[in-house]
Amino acid sequence: MNNIAILDPLWGDNGKGGWTHKFSPQFDWVVKCAGGNNCGHTLYYMDKKYVHHLVPSINFEESDAKGFISCNTVIDLQAMYDEIIDLEKSFKGVGSRLYVDVNAHVVTESHKTEDREANKHIGTTGKGIGPCYRDKINRSGTRIKDLFNNNDVKKLKEIGVTFTTFSALYDNFMKSKLLFEGSQGILLDIDHGTYPYVTSSQTNLASIVASGFANKHLLPNKVFGVAKCYATRVGNGPFPSELMNDVGEKLRELGKEYGATTGRPRRVGWLDIPLLNYSCRVSGITNLIFTKFDVLNNFDDLHVVTHYKLGEQFVSRIDDLDIIKNKTVNDLSLEKVSKWNDASNIQQLKSFFNIVDKYVDVPVEYISFGTKKEDFKKIG
Ligand code: IMP
Ligand code: MG
Repeated sequence: MNNIAILDPLWGDNGKGGWTHKFSPQFDWVVKCAGGNNCGHTLYYMDKKYVHHLVPSINFEESDAKGFISCNTVIDLQAMYDEIIDLEKSFKGVGSRLYVDVNAHVVTESHKTEDREANKHIGTTGKGIGPCYRDKINRSGTRIKDLFNNNDVKKLKEIGVTFTTFSALYDNFMKSKLLFEGSQGILLDIDHGTYPYVTSSQTNLASIVASGFANKHLLPNKVFGVAKCYATRVGNGPFPSELMNDVGEKLRELGKEYGATTGRPRRVGWLDIPLLNYSCRVSGITNLIFTKFDVLNNFDDLHVVTHYKLGEQFVSRIDDLDIIKNKTVNDLSLEKVSKWNDASNIQQLKSFFNIVDKYVDVPVEYISFGTKKEDFKKIG
């Protein structure tokens, strides 16, 4: 594979961590280009579950890939230390496989306190992300390089973490295979998402360029968008296809939809194709991956949103997210998907893919229907 990016076209938590994990043995570097420990990537080694936050979703057993955490991220140094120490219990040498750009900004205790107190209306993760990015843009932030003698930096060095710059690794990157692992989802992007109910960074390809990867040989040549066969959102903000009924409850239980970072119940609803098409356009997504079909085995009530009803009109394209404000499932037109009882039998998923083929602008290349290796399949 050439360089690739794995992004999330919706609100995050659609399985890009699992796919990064799966693809990582084919790459030399897995690069985190935005956000901080607001991310929660759930990964499985056989049946054992791990959650990564700042550490890229490398398969530490089967891949030799190193992780690069770019200058465009924001880093809670203590949280990073704790995460690495925890992973080291299972995988020796995690720290020495991680490289951190010293130009990344540091999340402080006061950022976290402020985030928890002042950003409740947004429903943030409380990890200090917004206040840290604000200080960065305001030119009053602290970068890792400003803290070289700090104890938290020393502790990370002692467990093998390398502090470096993009430029110092440039020659290595030029001869390496790179996997860019996205953070959050495109609808949480600071510019293209459902502002102000968004995170404080870019979640699209801009985050990769902002990290230094501007040379065309470094940029991803395929951009995957990973989506579930239904939708979820954590935090506040518009979610027109949200189900606030028994069906929603059932989807949440079947999919175990609880936030990997905060444990909050995720809001659940139907896959929204107009929003998916919007996201693909503003993020450069070239191929889609759909996930979690297994959790809906024998589920007889799956729908997909194909259009928004705007007065007398039905639109399958959205050019401005303000359109979705205050819309509910009653303002949407839906198509019902035929039930399947074995998600590993692609034939049974035909009704879902017929709808996707009809309305989605981007081709589907892979699907997954479980957490084991054989549950990840190429279909396109
Ligand atoms: P923040 O990134 O903590 O500032 O939170 C802003 C919004 O993004 C909130 O709605 C969060 O729930 C959401 N968010 C942040 N990170 C993630 C993630 O990794 N998955 C899903 N939602 C996230
Ligand atoms: Mg997540």
